[in-house]
This record gives sequence, C-alpha cells and structure tokens, in this order.
Amino acid sequence: MTANPPVRFVLNGKDTTVSAAPIRRLAHVLRDDLGFTGTKVGCDAGDCGACTVLLDGRQVCACMVPVAQVEGRDVVTVEGLAADGRLSALQEAFHLYGAAQCGICTPGMLMAAADLLRRNPRPTEPEVLDALGGVLCRCTGYRKIIEAVLHVGDPAPAQVVDPAPGCAVGARAAKTDGIEKVTGTEIYGADRAPADALWLRAVRSPHWSATFSLGDPGPLHRKYPGLVKVLTAAAVPGNNGFGIYPNVKDQPALADGEVLYRGEAVVALVGDHDTVFGIRDDEVPIIWRVRDPVQGFDAPLAPGAPQLHKDKPGNILAHGYVAKGDVDAALAAADIVVDCEIETGFVEHAYIEPEAGWARRVGDRLEITVTTQTPYMDRDEVAQLIGIAPERVRIIPTACGGGFGGKLDLSVQPLIAVAAWVLDRPVRCVYNRIESMASTTKRHPSRIRARYGCTRDGRLAGFDGFADFNTGAYVSWGLTVKDRVPVHATGPYFVPAMRAKSRAFFTNETPAGAFRGFGVPQAAIAHEALMDMMAEKLGIDRLEFRHRNAIRKGQETNTGQRLESAGLDQCLDALRPHWRDWTEAVEAFNRTANGIRRRGVGVGCMWYGCGNTSLSNPSTMRMGVAPDGTVTLYSGAQDIGQGTNTTMVQAAADGLGIAMARLRLVWGDTDRTPDSGKSSASRQAYVSGNAAKRAGEALRAAILRLANCAQTATIEFGRGTIEVRDGRLVRRIEIAALPALANGDVLSAEGYFDPPTTPLDANGQGNPYGTYGFAAQIAEVEVDVELGTVKARRMAAAHDVGRALNPIQVEGQIHGGIAQGLGLALMEEYMPGRTENLHDYLIPTIGDVPEIATYIIEDPEPTGPWGAKGIGEPSLCATAPAIFGAIHHATGVRVTRAPCTPDRLRAAILARRGK
Ligand code: FES
Ligand code: FES
Repeated sequence: MTANPPVRFVLNGKDTTVSAAPIRRLAHVLRDDLGFTGTKVGCDAGDCGACTVLLDGRQVCACMVPVAQVEGRDVVTVEGLAADGRLSALQEAFHLYGAAQCGICTPGMLMAAADLLRRNPRPTEPEVLDALGGVLCRCTGYRKIIEAVLHVGDPAPAQVVDPAPGCAVGARAAKTDGIEKVTGTEIYGADRAPADALWLRAVRSPHWSATFSLGDPGPLHRKYPGLVKVLTAAAVPGNNGFGIYPNVKDQPALADGEVLYRGEAVVALVGDHDTVFGIRDDEVPIIWRVRDPVQGFDAPLAPGAPQLHKDKPGNILAHGYVAKGDVDAALAAADIVVDCEIETGFVEHAYIEPEAGWARRVGDRLEITVTTQTPYMDRDEVAQLIGIAPERVRIIPTACGGGFGGKLDLSVQPLIAVAAWVLDRPVRCVYNRIESMASTTKRHPSRIRARYGCTRDGRLAGFDGFADFNTGAYVSWGLTVKDRVPVHATGPYFVPAMRAKSRAFFTNETPAGAFRGFGVPQAAIAHEALMDMMAEKLGIDRLEFRHRNAIRKGQETNTGQRLESAGLDQCLDALRPHWRDWTEAVEAFNRTANGIRRRGVGVGCMWYGCGNTSLSNPSTMRMGVAPDGTVTLYSGAQDIGQGTNTTMVQAAADGLGIAMARLRLVWGDTDRTPDSGKSSASRQAYVSGNAAKRAGEALRAAILRLANCAQTATIEFGRGTIEVRDGRLVRRIEIAALPALANGDVLSAEGYFDPPTTPLDANGQGNPYGTYGFAAQIAEVEVDVELGTVKARRMAAAHDVGRALNPIQVEGQIHGGIAQGLGLALMEEYMPGRTENLHDYLIPTIGDVPEIATYIIEDPEPTGPWGAKGIGEPSLCATAPAIFGAIHHATGVRVTRAPCTPDRLRAAILARRGK
C-alpha cells in the first residue's frame, strides 16, 4: 500500500504536516487526525456551514475541501481565534450578547464572521446577513448573532452583569458554559470516543413496509476481516423494544422480521471505520418481501386497511377528549359560526448536531456517552433493552447540539449499548445527516376541522373541533399529542362551551414524536384562523377581539382548572402600539404599491401547559459542599441550548444566597446527579427551577442551623470556612471539621418539585399542568402575488413567562421559536424519502428571520420559582398563525395547508381570482 503523501500547511499559525489521502475532506482531517474538533460536521455536504473555517483568510466549508487543496496554505479554525488565553473581541461579543445557544453552529458562525470583519471591521446588517448566510443555526433565530457581530469591540453591554449574591434570578447573566461554546472546546456527541472504539453503522430498510429474513453473514465476514459483528434483533439481550411510556415499548432496536417504515434499523455492522462504511447495504444478506405501505390521512383509516400493529384495530393508537357545557346548543344559539379545515405535514427538527455517542462495558455495568435531552429516561430504556437494572447503566450526556424534542426518543443509544455489551468493547456511532433525517421522529402531520361561534357583541360562545394526528410507524409521543391537543384546542380564550376530540393513528411513515409543542402549534393554526374569521365577520379589530376573549387570572380553563397566572391580555396590550402602526403602514403601502407586492399584518395567540400532561413529572436537584469548600449544584437537567446550565445555577445560587460565580455545576451524569426529568414540555425553568431553588434553600437552612443564625443572615464561602453574618454576629464554620458524608461532601441538601397536576376524567376535566405560559405575536409580511412568495418583514412577540429567570435566555428562546415557527409556516415540510438532507429540506437562514421586537410579560405563577413558567415551546406556537393572518390580510387567501409554499399560495391566489 502506498503511504499517503504529507500535506503541509499552516494551522492556526503553526506549521502542520499531516499524512492523509489527498481527497479526504479537510473537516475530517482536522477533527479525526489533528484533534481540532471545534470544527463541526452537521451535514458533510456543504449545506449547513457548521464546518466553516478560514482558508487563506476566506470562509470555506471544510467538509467540501479535499485536504490536498490546503497544501502550502493558511487554515484558521475556531481554536485559532483566541490568543494568549484571551477571547477575541468577536468571541467576547458572541458570549456577552447570547449569540450561542446549543453552540454547535457557533464555530462556523464565528469563522464566517471573522472573514467578514477582517475585510470590513464595521459591517452593516445587510453585510452581516450576506457574510453569514451560508451557516445555519437552528436555535437562535440569528438575531443575537447579528447583534453580536454588529457590536464587536464595543464596550460590554451594560445589561450583562455578574450578579451580586441573591440577585442572580432575573439578571442578564452570560451563559455559565458560554466560553466553551465560543472557543470550540465544548464536547458534543461526535467529538470524542476512545481510540480503540469500534464503529457501528445501521443498515436500514429501503422499504416502507416489508417482511424480511436474514441470510448467513459468514461470507460478509470472510470478505471483510475488519467486520467484527453483524448485530441482529436476536443479539438484543433484554426486551427488543423501546418507547416513551412505561408500558409501551413498541419500537424495536433492530427490526425483527418486519419493518414498518423506510429508515428502520435492520442490522448493525460493527467493526473498524473503513470496513463498516465500506460495506454496501446490498451486500448484507437481507431477503425482502415488500408490502404495499399504508400512508397519509385516509388510507390507514379506511375500512379493511392493513393493520400495522395487531393490538391496534383500525390503526388507531388512541383518542383524546375534552368537553364542557352544551356545545351543540351554544353553537346553535351563536350569532356567528365559522369553520375551517387545516392540514400540516411532517416537520424535521434539523438540529445541526446529528445523533452521536459511544458506549462501553465497565464490569457488569454499561456506560453511554451520548447527546440527549433525557439522561434518566435513556438510562431506564437502555437497561430494559439489555435486561439489567437501571442502576447498572450510566448515561454521561455530552453537550447537546440542539434537540427540540427530537433527542427525547432513543437513536444511537440502543445500538451502541447492545454492541458494547455483547462485544465488551467500546463502540461508537455517528449518524450522517440523511440517516438522522430518515430514521428519527418528526412533528406529527395533522388534519384539524373546527368550528367556533360567538355572539354579536364579540364574545366567544362555543367551540367544536376534531384533530387527526399521524403518529407514523410507532407510538413515540402519540399519546401525549392526543391529550395535549384537546386541552389546548380552543386557544387561550374563555369559552363557555366546547368539545375537542383527537385521534392518533399509525402509518407506514417515519415515526412522529415530540417537536416543540406536541401538536399545539398545529392546533393554534386552526383556532387562530377561526378567531380571525369571527373578528372579520363582526368587523372587530383582530387583536381587540382576542383581547376581549383572552382567558384571565381567576377564570377556569376548559378542563376546569382555575388559573392563577394568565398574562395574555397584557401580552396583547404590549403589542397594540406596533399593531396599530404596522396596520397603518401596510394599508398605506398597499394603496400606493403596484399590486404585485401586497403587505399584511397578522396576530397569533397561544397558551401552553408547562410539563407533562396529567402526569407526575418531578425534578430533584442536589447541592453539596465538598471538603475543600467547593459548592456544587448537581443538576440532572440537560441543557439542550435553552440555557438550563445557567438558569439552574442562578436559581440555586439565589436559594443559597451566594454569588452564582461561586457555584460549580455538575450536570446530567446519571451516576452523579439526581433525576431532574426530561428537557421537554417547557418544564425545566418551572419544575427544575423550583427544585434548584429548593436545593439552595435547603443547603442554606442546613448552614444556618449549624451556625445557629437567623434566616436573614448572609452566607459567604471563604478559604476553608463558611462565614455566616447575622447582624453583628459573625460565625465561622470550619469546613475541614465537618464529617464527610457518604457522597463525599460535608454538607448536602436536595430540592424537589413535582407540579400539582391531576388526571383528566372521562370528559377531560382536571388539572393537566401546574401552570400555563401565554403569548401573542404579530407579523408583517410582504407577498409577491405573482410568485406566491412571502417575506416576513418584521415581528413582535410578547410572552408571559411568569418571571424571566434570565432575560437573555428568554429572548433567545423567543427568537429561536419564531424562526422555527416561520419555517413551519412557510417552508418546512419533511417528505419521507424525498427531503432527507439540508439541501432539499429548507430551514430558515439568517436572511429569512426578520427583525423581532420582544416583550417579556411577568404575570407570576404562584407555584413557580420566583413566579417563573416555561418559554421553550410557547415561543413557536403563535408564529405560524400570525404569519397566516398576515398573508390573509395581504391577499385575502386563508391558508389551509402548512407550509404555505409559493406554489400553494400562488394556486390559492389564482383560485380566489377564479382563474
Ligand atoms: S458540515 Fe460542512 S457544510 Fe455542513
Ligand atoms: S446555537 Fe446555532 S444551532 Fe444551536
């Protein structure tokens, strides 16, 4: 074999030589051969920009550059930006302006910005949009990235403070893990694994529905000596099934004689890298018997349709139901009744970090290092797959490069777990982009029919709705969606009588799971269209109609739950000035424009129950003081970019009464941290925030007891001592004199919170959530009526979050949610088998997300920590309704199919004109 020729280049200012095949891509050589894992790989195809580096000072996608091309040239990666241990001004700005959320796109963004700033130190916003247009971010909505680049070198923003003891909550504190994200030192799922780890690649079904048998793998082994194992369903030591709910484990880790969707894992090849990626799928002995798939909304529910699951007649997973009052009488008596039918498609999470991790067996235990949203659920799922007690599995989460619900379900975990357990060797797996998109869950496609009625004076009278949800091949989160949707179906309004039904059904399509909202964004499209229709029929301003009917504190929801916090009316109040100005502006534009471009404004409202529906979903946090005086928060709440690592420290620090900078954080590791539940359902700020606060308070109480001081005393950790000041009294606790506890700390305290929920009865009555978040958003759009294109020109969003634990994080969530909502409204549709990459599946780029004015409304929730409620999902739900309302205002076309792509809108405009 000929040795690879050396490639010599300058890397981050240092002469570097690497021996690599000339066509290997620079991104992989940097990461795998040279250990520069700050450069990320999100698509490996030139679509996402995560791999952006500077080549001779200009940005390039390192995944597209053969390494031979860098011979004699200058390469700079994110690791080359900081100098002498100091962040560059650009990195500093990213950190202080909150430009990094999950951080996986941050190195690419920084390098694109570095290219721009080198040529143009004071760019304008359009120049920033132009220069960063090749890098995708799925978290931030880009606004804080733009802000950071525009302010490089400016004095630090005054609002970013290092809060004093007791003042962390509510402060605009920078991320506790922000430095790692802007320096490229953060470790994600694909960044590290033992050098001797075997690689695993799943061979997946090319068919939507089929049975299969497996042939003898012997010839494959003989042909490929580097192939260590062909894993099949028979190799799974425990139960070959996983799922979200304790009693539903319907999705196999490896298919067992039957596949129900294209992309389902059939066997796993384990061996050295080049072998497992060198074997073609058609070399693997799988004998297929293909069946006609059952897909879409109608075929699975037709009489006599083939059954996907024997125990689910009619392909129906479950029904949901919420009802109150006599809705038929209410609608019969209503002065105005409107109806609509809307349909939405599959939507892909498109986090920039594909699924990745590695596993190893440690004695009779299994250790899995993986990107995830839910370490404890992963632990329990893996344990039952292997057939061992949960305590014998340890999940060590890496940083998570975006989740949005898609990393709640298992992906690589069962495969690497089984392989490492069976082979007793470390095994790693990194999904490629196509595999990630083809095999993992999506937003549920929906078809919703609903009627709303109101009185002549603009009061809601009754609502009747039915929502169908395609849950794909397996249950995943289908049971949650079928419950959440009826609870939220009317929107955040007081309605005297209502009935909402839902149905989740199976198809031979990609499983649908959790995606920022669990069906609520789809429901919001329907109820907000109906609100607009009623307002227009009545001749009442759309915003004022919503304000009149907004559910208020003290009123009962449709499930009979009395609300103690409900700030929708305040959200609408905050937006009213924009609404009036923008309405006047678009009307003036439309009077003078040429008729091809039309502008409109729209408003959308939403509500969202924080936490799991009608289930106990507790969080526990622990704080400990080590013998050396280090104070640590042990948090099981996984930070998926939303900032939990920062807000939990803020809550715990204030609970204890010390500066947040004094707190060390240990997060996620199931051996070291208690179970704080999943990062989902907008629950961490509310649920885990309470637990962190209570852990801090419990530790404080323990210290005050030791010092025999009053509640008002202050606590300070010094060298080897805890100093407690109670007025003029000063007591010092010698930490070394305290006996060590079993966990190694000398002081330890836990905080626990479980939201006060109750089950729903047969009529859907009960308290499904501890609290609800509320929001209103308005959008101004411009439509090219000849092309059917829509440009969101500006948006304003007001969100009632109870209390913003950290306003920077809240704003970032709002921006990011709006960007995803804009994608849902205008461009995102996952078509199984067709849009399985980031080239064909479009997500908003930096040029698509408009200027966003944010308003944080704080109507405190009595059971929340300092009043806080969730923001993760609420940020998205109102966006598509606001945009659709604006499209209608501009064109007269009521959008009934999301996304509203140019072809669909153009066809609707022509149909409306009667052409
Ligand atoms: S990884 Fe290179 S562009 Fe996506
Ligand atoms: S911060 Fe940009 S993808 Fe997460």
